[in-house]
Amino acid sequence: MRTSVGIVGGGPAGLLLARLLHRAGIDSVVLESRDRSYAERRQRAGILEQATADVLREAGAGARLDREGMVHDGIELRFDGRAHRVDFPSHTEGRRVVVYAQTEVVKDLIALQLADGGPLLFGAEARAVEGADSARPLVRYTHEGRERTLACDYVVGCDGFHGIARGAVPEALRTTYERTYPYSWLGILAEAPPAYDELIYAHSPRGFALASMRSPTVSRLYLQVPNGTDAADWPDGRIWDELDARFALRAEPGRRFVRGPVTQKSVLPMRGWVTEPMRHGRLFLAGDAAHIVPPTGAKGLNLAVADVVVLARALEQWYAHGSPAALDAYSGTCLRRVWRAQHFADSMTTTLHTEPDQSPFETRLQLARLDRIASGGHAAAELAADYTGLPLTTTG
Ligand code: FAD
Ligand code: DHB
Repeated sequence: MRTSVGIVGGGPAGLLLARLLHRAGIDSVVLESRDRSYAERRQRAGILEQATADVLREAGAGARLDREGMVHDGIELRFDGRAHRVDFPSHTEGRRVVVYAQTEVVKDLIALQLADGGPLLFGAEARAVEGADSARPLVRYTHEGRERTLACDYVVGCDGFHGIARGAVPEALRTTYERTYPYSWLGILAEAPPAYDELIYAHSPRGFALASMRSPTVSRLYLQVPNGTDAADWPDGRIWDELDARFALRAEPGRRFVRGPVTQKSVLPMRGWVTEPMRHGRLFLAGDAAHIVPPTGAKGLNLAVADVVVLARALEQWYAHGSPAALDAYSGTCLRRVWRAQHFADSMTTTLHTEPDQSPFETRLQLARLDRIASGGHAAAELAADYTGLPLTTTG
């Protein structure tokens, strides 16, 4: 098989790239190692920056998002037993976020691609990208028990953190930056109406907790837990008790979460990780294949979308005008945003979580940082701007 752009990985990055290229008249093939139902059920992110939602609309994937997505104008920070709201539109000239699960984004993009788009092959596992620095790169993959080859003008590795594409960049030419955090998240999905209208990020002496949602009847909740935690050690009752304790407000001592059946439970490690550059010859890396942020602040999915928007525009300039300038600028343009997001995610993470053996001095500093934000002014404006995201057209 031969195509213009071979896309390895059918997560949000790969699927959206295929849509954007299709709309620009550029053909592509998406290879996804998992089956469709697995790809559509994988529980991950939930918050779309305004620019991410706008791109999905532009790509034709906005109808259900606009019907079912929940627009949020702010978040709550909870610390020292008190609640403080950070408003987004008033600090950002009107920017907001949309709560719409990654599972739904993926379902919408898959349906569009299958109805009207280039090939999207499930159960197609890429084994290697060859000739990345030649004029004729190719992807070797297996599908329906057979070894196959996809010949391309360009290959894009959208195959996530565990993917194979970046293995085609010689080790001597790439630099990896990594930070691991000394705690993880226990994440649950529960058939229980969200207890609050907006997301709550809670700092507490018992550790961080986050209350999010997936719909008016489904809650998504996270608890900071030690690295190495086994989800089986957290029966449902223990989780709800811990959530009640970490979200406790001095002004409303009796308030409890509405409990409901816990339908999913998993432990997520927290890591910041970047590989540079995001291009080698005719191979480009996008999304989690090139960078991971710790989840506090919900940047991972939004960064993946920003990468493929930059790449789709650059490929358009190449195919329409033969101009390589935007392709040459791709890695630098994306990495600038990636490091700004990495900085934001790290500061949210370290301000809100409790380190093992954290000193009382450090706790007071965290509370002082949170107090600065809660007081409004520049610190609140900065958080609102970072949370709602950089405009996608921005290169600086
Ligand atoms: P992925 O979604 O990882 O997609 C990669 C795709 O490539 C997958 O479909 C995979 O099956 C496929 N693939 C892999 N190898 C191959 C191969 N060899 N051949 C073919 N296909 C292959 N972000 C947040 O903002 N908030 C969160 O709460 C949050 N929770 C997360 C929880 C988990 C467990 C993980 C892993 C990530 C989470 N993230 C979260 C991050 C966010 O989900 C990712 O940033 C986002 O999925 C990135 O999209 P992607 O398309 O780059 O990569
Ligand atoms: C969600 C995840 C996040 O990491 C976050 O900061 C906010 C919300 C979520 O899964 O809903």
